[in-house]
Amino acid sequence: MSAESILQTFNLGKRYGQRWAVKQLNLDIKRADVFGFLGPNGAGKSTTIRMLLSLIKPTEGSVSLFGHELHRHRAQALKSVGGIVEKPDFYLYLSAVRNLEIVGALNGGIHRARIFEVLDLVGLRGRERDKVKTYSHGMKQRLGIAQALLSNPDMVILDEPTSGLDPQGMKEVRGLITHLSRDQQKTVVLSSHLLNEVEHVATRMAIINKGELVVQGGVHELLNQGEGFVLLQAEPKRAVKRVLKASTKIVSKFVDEPDCIKIFMDFADVPALNQSLVRNGVRVQAIVPRRSLEDYFLSITESEDSRR
Ligand SMILES: Nc1ncnc2c1ncn2[C@@H]1O[C@H](COP(=O)(O)OP(=O)(O)OP(=O)(O)O)[C@@H](O)[C@H]1O
Ligand SMILES: [Mg+2]
Repeated sequence: MSAESILQTFNLGKRYGQRWAVKQLNLDIKRADVFGFLGPNGAGKSTTIRMLLSLIKPTEGSVSLFGHELHRHRAQALKSVGGIVEKPDFYLYLSAVRNLEIVGALNGGIHRARIFEVLDLVGLRGRERDKVKTYSHGMKQRLGIAQALLSNPDMVILDEPTSGLDPQGMKEVRGLITHLSRDQQKTVVLSSHLLNEVEHVATRMAIINKGELVVQGGVHELLNQGEGFVLLQAEPKRAVKRVLKASTKIVSKFVDEPDCIKIFMDFADVPALNQSLVRNGVRVQAIVPRRSLEDYFLSITESEDSRR
């Protein structure tokens, strides 16, 4: 039996002026997913998440949350959802506890014990009385997650929870997300512009580019589908090509690229190829396996980066 869908969008779209920030988007998020919502800068992630949390109104399409149509039954639909969009806003001169008290009061009151529970969960105990302005970026991100968890929702939607964090901070947030999913049975949706971030934590994912869905499915299935290739940097070129031409059992095709050779092959054969290159006097600088989806994603991310 396939898992129950708890968040679905139907041809969801948002237009600003002449431009569609999100277009004809159909997402399907199932109970207990850690759902990675991936896209380069400007792809439409935050716009989508704003629509999911009913902070902005879609231009067209609809959202169903826990079986309720968001537009018609907003309160019911959002009852079991917590979220943060982009940088969470806090009163910098107040403590974490005070900030969460205010958020709690705005949401109809919250038990004091729950405030300390969520602070514990995100690892902010010990600093909870300090002013938020004294917090590191990572601590503020974690306070944002604490805020999203305050009402103990079944689903949390986090917009780029690891953005701007160092590798250690990213790892901590990833650990927290895994904990929320595995030990607290929460469904987690997180957006990111880094594939390897999502790959390490998500069970299913969607990629969007320029407001449109590119793919959606299981992380493992998506990343391992299609033929991969290997980027090889090695010298001297002539010897490299001789070895590649002779390795017909391993190499199905190879193409010259400006600073490397692209080899279409099974990743399992990389060690064997490496061995025969070395045996034939080739100096191997790098052999980098690239899966086709990964390569596609890097290509759209890089082209976005180069425009900035
Ligand atoms: N309020 C707005 N008015 C006009 N255009 C907007 C508005 N909000 C977003 N956009 C545009 O919609 C597109 C998608 O933006 P969005 O913030 O959703 O992208 P994103 O995927 O979250 O990007 P990032 O990774 O940079 O956060 C962009 O072209 C952006 O300029
Ligand atoms: Mg964004």
